[in-house]
Amino acid sequence: MMTKPNQILDIEGLSVSRSGKVVLSEVDLNVQKGEFIGLVGPNGGGKSTLLLSILGVLRPQQGSIEIYNEKPMSRNILGRIGWVSQAAAVMPKNIRITVRELVRLGTLNSGNMFWSFLVKNKETVNQAIKMVGLEDEADTDIARLSGGQRQRAVIARALASNAEFILLDEPLVGIDRESRSLLLKLLDDLCHEKGKTILMVSHDLAAIRQTTHRMIYLEESIRFDGPTEDFPDLTTLANLRGISPVHGVEEESRTPKSIINTDDESDQANGGSKL
Ligand SMILES: Nc1ncnc2c1ncn2[C@@H]1O[C@H](COP(=O)(O)OP(=O)(O)O)[C@@H](O)[C@H]1O
Ligand SMILES: [Mg+2]
Repeated sequence: MMTKPNQILDIEGLSVSRSGKVVLSEVDLNVQKGEFIGLVGPNGGGKSTLLLSILGVLRPQQGSIEIYNEKPMSRNILGRIGWVSQAAAVMPKNIRITVRELVRLGTLNSGNMFWSFLVKNKETVNQAIKMVGLEDEADTDIARLSGGQRQRAVIARALASNAEFILLDEPLVGIDRESRSLLLKLLDDLCHEKGKTILMVSHDLAAIRQTTHRMIYLEESIRFDGPTEDFPDLTTLANLRGISPVHGVEEESRTPKSIINTDDESDQANGGSKL
């Protein structure tokens, strides 16, 4: 197969079963460098399963996954992939660790421990903390942070690791609105300015639509994959899935522009619709 320099992820015909139940079937997915992709779908639709398969934690029954032209978990790609889970915001409060220490942990897998590396490391850690806007909290115990701040600390850890491809599983859960907007803006900047590639799961359709360029709707298989502005309204999606639409739909389908509005009031306009 030809090597494509900008291709980060190439999934073909992926099927995954868990406990004998088919969770993903015939999934094809290509991701290019610099993309910021929102992955949505109903509860149990297989979003986390897809991420875990990409990470190599789950083995596919069928199909292939290549990241940077390597198999998941290959030596050559360790450290290039970051993972942020929803658990971050609800991390046990009895872990005693400061923001700086947590972020420093992220650098553990990114190289060896030469002196020059350690110096550079300190800089990397400070930079990552700055990027998520936690300078003032750098030496605060994470147990004392709000959910949103804690989630940003975990993202800083992923940044400090120099991961190029970052997978986020429900990073917006338990986060106040202000932090959520900050976070989305940060992720968007990372793609635009730092050439990172992001695949983010969220059930908060309104929030995810504000920033991502591309949306994927997953329910066992991929039912939509395309530019965010083409993402079907909830009525169309509900029809696809054979269920009654949720309220707030009309508003949204009448004003398609609001879907891609980056103004952070737009999530209120369509009621913070959830899938
Ligand atoms: N550890 C597990 N063992 C067996 N089945 C699981 C496990 N985790 C999730 N599943 C099943 O896989 C399906 C997809 O789950 P998941 O990928 O977590 O969906 P999502 O993240 O979209 O909510 C669900 O039917 C769920 O019950
Ligand atoms: Mg999930």
